[in-house]
Amino acid sequence: MTLDQTRLPFEQVSIELDSLESCRHAIRAMQVRGAPLIGAVGAYGLAFGLRRDASDDALRQDFAELLASRPTAVNLRWALQRVADRVRPLPPGERSAAAWHEAGVICEQDVACNRAIGSHLAALLREQALRRGGDPTRALDVLTHCNAGRLATIAYGTALSPFYLLAEIGVPVHVWVDETRPRNQGASLTAWELGQAGVPHTVIADNAGGLLMMQGRVDAVIVGCDRVAANGDVANKVGTYLKALAAHAHGVPFYVACPSSTIDRDANDAAAIEIEARDGRELSHVSGRLPDGTTAQVQVIPDGSAAYNPAFDLTPAALVTALVTERGVIPATRGAIAALFAEH
Ligand code: MRU
Repeated sequence: MTLDQTRLPFEQVSIELDSLESCRHAIRAMQVRGAPLIGAVGAYGLAFGLRRDASDDALRQDFAELLASRPTAVNLRWALQRVADRVRPLPPGERSAAAWHEAGVICEQDVACNRAIGSHLAALLREQALRRGGDPTRALDVLTHCNAGRLATIAYGTALSPFYLLAEIGVPVHVWVDETRPRNQGASLTAWELGQAGVPHTVIADNAGGLLMMQGRVDAVIVGCDRVAANGDVANKVGTYLKALAAHAHGVPFYVACPSSTIDRDANDAAAIEIEARDGRELSHVSGRLPDGTTAQVQVIPDGSAAYNPAFDLTPAALVTALVTERGVIPATRGAIAALFAEH
């Protein structure tokens, strides 16, 4: 069972994922989304497929079908590959159980990874507070884009993880939440989960972040990522790049919360990353709650206007202050990324 994220924040509806098809549909329809969660659901999808048919042919076909469900987040390929590599040497009769086990390990590791990323980011934020000086009780203002929280992962989230850890030890933080058009993952999901956890936050229009940085009202930007190339270029939700440019212009640290599973060393740089193009209807229509409490979609662009909807964008490594991985904080450079993998 998992929450159907297309129904949040106004309805909490659980869906049961009990087959390869339901996993694939949930990823495609964005009932589940966020790079690590897509990977975990993909892994279970493959395990379900192997229950039905554990032959080499079925494994190949199921892998390809699941992989095609969303193109940008590399965690999907990473998780499918992990499961496939684990089961391929086994006789068909043992494959399904082994796949199920591996999917469980992926989930357990995700939780530990996110906690580690959160504690590295929390330390960076505390240093930032010391550097800032002034009133130590004033909350740090951190801006985030999209949703890289617990909804996007198994627990804690990546970019939102430090807020939960800092809340546990009573360090005051306030989060500027970009609404994140067109699907509004910030306004609908990040605001919802921060609210559930009692983390102070304010939703802002996507275009407000530059002004807030210029006014000195943002101490740091923290975003998640869907794929990081071997040179440190970052693919994340469309709009991330503009925030990175503004942060660079105003000397605001721009941190990318980056599980090592999101680093794609086969992608030489940003040019090798496929950007998902989504339906223009996500731009032409918005979902919301009507005064009578029901939810509905309304059209916001004129009939006949074209809409173009790239779901992700690419932030050059030079704009990234640091990649915060579960293994430590590294510069977004080819050398540092190579060294991160050489050590493990
Ligand atoms: O299209 P989405 O909602 O799946 O996009 C999600 C993001 O861009 C997140 O920032 C990214 O996946 C990191 S989630 C820890």
